[in-house]
This record gives sequence, structure tokens and C-alpha cells, in this order.
Amino acid sequence: MRTIRSVAELREALGPHRKAGRSIGLVPTMGAFHEGHLALMRRAREDTAVVVVSLFVNPTQFRPGEDLAAYPRDEAADAARAEAIGVDVLFAPPAEEVYPPGFCTEVRVGGVTEPLEGAARGSEHFHGVTTVVTKLFNMVAPDVAYFGQKDAQQVAVIQQLVRDLDIPVRIEVCPIVREPDGLAMSSRNRYLEPAHRDRALGLSRALRAAEDAARGGERDAAAIVSAARAALVESDIEPEYLELVSTETLAPVDRVGDADVLVAVAARVGPARLIDNIIIRANGRQ
Ligand code: PAJ
Repeated sequence: MRTIRSVAELREALGPHRKAGRSIGLVPTMGAFHEGHLALMRRAREDTAVVVVSLFVNPTQFRPGEDLAAYPRDEAADAARAEAIGVDVLFAPPAEEVYPPGFCTEVRVGGVTEPLEGAARGSEHFHGVTTVVTKLFNMVAPDVAYFGQKDAQQVAVIQQLVRDLDIPVRIEVCPIVREPDGLAMSSRNRYLEPAHRDRALGLSRALRAAEDAARGGERDAAAIVSAARAALVESDIEPEYLELVSTETLAPVDRVGDADVLVAVAARVGPARLIDNIIIRANGRQ
């Protein structure tokens, strides 16, 4: 595996592969790898000839007061784990390579950036994501890019971006990887002390309660939300949001049954802000 820090060197490394017609897979990340990240890399390794993982803690997607400075960084450990999976290139540019002096362009997606995280954190978060992801797509020019369902709204935003700007990349979405007890893996889980860690289980329990209610035949979104909210209360969690929305438009839904529905939750648990979600499939499909 090669670690590359500049766009010029990256293009030079990938050029011959592209010329030879080899498929290129990109896994964009901010590092601090856990099994969720590694699952995306393994999937890319299976699907594509050349696997590029980007590691860049993107400052423009953090809001003032968020955890940019504290965000976990351990490039040496990340590189070892990526290499063990057979990643070909770790692209880990410094901030000045991505945002050189004089940088003044932003890529903004409307609509799907507004609810959920957009309402809770501000849609500027997503403008930072879409700007850096557009740049990464232009730098790597991947055939396929891999994203996790963990960030369900980010997936919807990236799909909208790729459609709207005719970016020639296929987006593959990988399922949420969870700890054995149900907690969705996240780089931010390392902020959790044991007592917080126990309470954090309330999120996945709430989503399971929503799923159980739907499986039991409940169709009314408000009743499903109530079932989920009861599980949050048990864990002493007050959510920032807990909503049933369309998986595509992220617009609120009143009833489930005819289309896939996303149940999305965000909550602060101790020092960590956690998000999780589950999809309730139309008409009980798995
Ligand atoms: P990061 O939070 O590092 O996540 C990188 C990728 O890993 C994202 O696609 C995310 O959805 C996925 N991921 C994280 N936890 C997961 C889990 N438990 N199961 C499955 N996939 C998981 O998302 C970002 O970075 C950034 O916004 C980025 C897209 C890199 C742009 O800066």
C-alpha cells in the first residue's frame, strides 16, 4: 500500500491503471477506522481492481463548537488496518492540499440537506461534505464509491449530488456495522465512558422497538415513534430528533407500508453526539 499526500502524485499513480481499463474504487473516510470503515474497504476490495481510501478530517463539515480539534486521529494505526485489507492507496492529504490559499468554491445540495441533521446541525455541515466529496471524486475519478448506511442522510445527499451534477460514479451503500450489543460503530463511540456506553444502547433499542411495532402490524407513524421514544426514555435519552421519513426524499411520512421508510434518531449521550437509523421495508420485506 502506498500513502499519497498530493493530488498530482495521486493522478500519476492512478493514470496507468485507468489506461489499462482497471476499475477504481474509492472509500472516503475521516480515519479512526473501526469495523464499519473496514467493511466498506473489504467490499471495495471484492468489487474493484484498485482500491483508494481517502483519510481526511474535513474541517469544512464541522460546525463551530463541534469536535474538529478533538476528532480522533491515528494515521499509523489506520494505515496498518487498511494495508491488512489489501487497500492499494491511502490518500491522506494535508488540509492545504485540499483547501489551498484562495479556495472559494462550495458545492451545495438543496432539499435533502434540510431535514434531520440539517435541521439539528445546520445544512452547512452537508455543504462541507458535498464540497469535499466532489473534490475527492474529481481527484480520484473512481468508477465506484462506497458509503455507509450509518449516515443515511449523507447517502441521500451524495446520491442527489451525483445525479444533479452528472458525476460518472456508481454509489454503493453498505449496511450498518454494529457492536454485538447493537450499538452502531462510530469513531465518536470512543468519547463514551462505560455509563454513557450503556445509555447509548437506547438508540439501537429504540430503532428495534420501531421495527418490532411495524412488524407487529402498526402502520401509524406517530404510534411507531411512540414505541421508539419509550425505549429512549428508559435509557434517559432525550433525542434531538426521532423521525420516520421517506428513504429517498427524507420527507416525513404518516403511515408505513407502501414504500421503504427510514427511522432516524440523533441524541447527545454524555460528550458524544450519536446518530443511528433503521429501514422499515415496504410491506414487511427483509
Ligand atoms: P466517516 O465518518 O469517517 O465515515 C466514513 C464512511 O464510513 C461513511 O460512508 C460512513 O457512513 C461509514 N460508516 C461509519 N460508521 C459505519 C458503520 N457503523 N457501519 C457502516 N458504515 C459506517 O462520513 C464521513 O467520514 C465523511 O462525511 C466523508 C464522507 C469522508 C466526507 O468527509
